[in-house]
This record gives sequence, structure tokens and C-alpha cells, in this order.
Amino acid sequence: MSRIEKSLEEAIRARQAVRRAGAQADEPADTGAAGQKKFQPAEVPLVKSGTVDLRMACIREPDSYIAEQYRKLRARIKSAPGGAPRSIMVTSAGIGEGKTVTSVNLAAAIANELDNTVLLVDTDLRNPMVHRYLGLQPQAGLSDYLKGSVELKDVLIKTGIGRLMVLPAGNSPENPSELLSSIRMGELAEELKKRYSDRYIVYDSSPLLATADAVSLARHMDGILFVMSAARTTHRSAQRAMQLLKGCRVLGVVFNNVQEQLARHMYPYPYERAGA
Ligand SMILES: Nc1ncnc2c1ncn2[C@@H]1O[C@H](COP(=O)(O)OP(=O)(O)O)[C@@H](O)[C@H]1O
Ligand SMILES: [Mg+2]
Repeated sequence: MSRIEKSLEEAIRARQAVRRAGAQADEPADTGAAGQKKFQPAEVPLVKSGTVDLRMACIREPDSYIAEQYRKLRARIKSAPGGAPRSIMVTSAGIGEGKTVTSVNLAAAIANELDNTVLLVDTDLRNPMVHRYLGLQPQAGLSDYLKGSVELKDVLIKTGIGRLMVLPAGNSPENPSELLSSIRMGELAEELKKRYSDRYIVYDSSPLLATADAVSLARHMDGILFVMSAARTTHRSAQRAMQLLKGCRVLGVVFNNVQEQLARHMYPYPYERAGA
């Protein structure tokens, strides 16, 4: 079974377990067949509206249970089998499954650790949301750089959140697929990795099944995080999307919108929210 198929299988098993109310804690152990550590599916609970500000949980509500899940995801990435990836693309099968929420919180969680510089790149040129989640109002961004109308240094934004910088998507282009599959985009992705060996680059992406945009970018990445929403992602769409990632290094699955108490039951963790 390929690594991708294994990741998918783990996520599907996790999902089935979530659905089994009162599930026995018999879900993925953290060791593989050979006894090696492997990347467990990460669990992000369904956040009820009006509770935690999900867009900025890691910044504004660092003591929340949800922020803790992103710190755990950060730790898993840093100790990923095969070495910590420097460039990570967050993707999923369809829209609204949690790619941007995951990208923003993961980037912030990494940047909040001392000595980590993180660049968060919004490659969802059709439905860019990173700048909105972070409350930024950029004039230009990635699309403008790819078209050759601006220099990179002029479109990078310092957020003031640790050492987190953002490359926003930029002005809506007519030809997003062409821009993202261009040689210039490939060179940028490779250059960003090489130029700063101590930097993490997190790419928010568009849905895999909607267009070829994310697939063409995926091959430039050190690692891919695949987001599945307990509320939206079907097995079939996850399987089809995973097929598109064949040959890429899929780090693992982020299982989003999980009912919190079941998530905690599956992956017991002694952390308690302040005041909970
Ligand atoms: N774990 C969660 N709990 C509650 N709402 C969520 C969760 N994850 C995402 N959402 C909400 O779902 C919507 C889509 O999330 P988003 O990350 O923008 O999806 P995508 O980037 O995959 O299209 C947003 O309104 C977001 O706040
Ligand atoms: Mg998005």
C-alpha cells in the first residue's frame, strides 16, 4: 500500500471512529508496523460559533484547546518521518473544508516558536482568504509578482505575529491556472526553499478537485497536508483527491470539524482549557 493510500486509510478509520458514539479507544496507534513513529492524523475540533476565534486561535486564544491542536500539528510536522519539511502545502478535496484555517493557524503556531521564520503564501488565486483571516488589506501579491508587475520584496507583508510574513494572493487574475503552473511559480517555490534554509513556507491552496491549480504546485513542495472535514468531505472525493497527489510526499491528514469530546476520547490528552 502506498504512503498516500495509508494516510487516507488512517483518516477514514479515524472518521469512522468519530461517528461511533462512545467509540472504544482502538484507533491508530502512534507506531507503524515496523515500530517506527508515523504521522498520526491530526484532529481539529468543530468550533461552535461565538466561542473561539478560529481564524486566529493560535494568536488570540493560545490557551484554547484548538490552539493546542495546532501546536501538536506543528510538533508532528517537525518530527515527520523522513525529516521536517520546509515547504508545506495545505490542501483538500473541496471548498470549505478548512484549508485556510489550517494554513493560518499552523503558520502562526510555527512562527510563535522562537527562532522560526514563516512565510505564509496564499495560492488560492480564485478565492483568496488568508489576508482576510489576518485582517490585512494588501494592494498586490503573488498573482502580480507572477505577472511580472511587482517585485517580491514589495508584496511581502510582516504581520507582527512572531516572525510570520505573508505573501497574499494579489489581484484576481484572468488565468490563475497558467500563473500557478508557470515556470516563474516553480522557480519561486524552489527559490524560497533555498534562500532561507531556516524558514518554513506554508502554502494555502485551492481545492484539488476543482481545478489543476493545487496539483501543479504540489510537486514543488517538501510535504503536503491533506485536510478532511468530518462535516463535508466524502470518502469518494478524498480518494479522488489523493489520487491526484500520487508521487508527492503526503505528510498526513488533518481531520477537521471533529466533534470535540469524541476527538478527545480518541486521542486522550491531559490538556484542559482554562476555566473548563
Ligand atoms: N474546525 C472548525 N470548526 C468550525 N468552523 C470551521 C472549522 N474549520 C473551518 N471552519 C469554517 O469553515 C469555513 C471554511 O473554512 P476555510 O478554512 O476557509 O475552508 P477552505 O479554505 O478549505 O475553503 C470558514 O468559515 C471557517 O471558519
Ligand atoms: Mg481557503
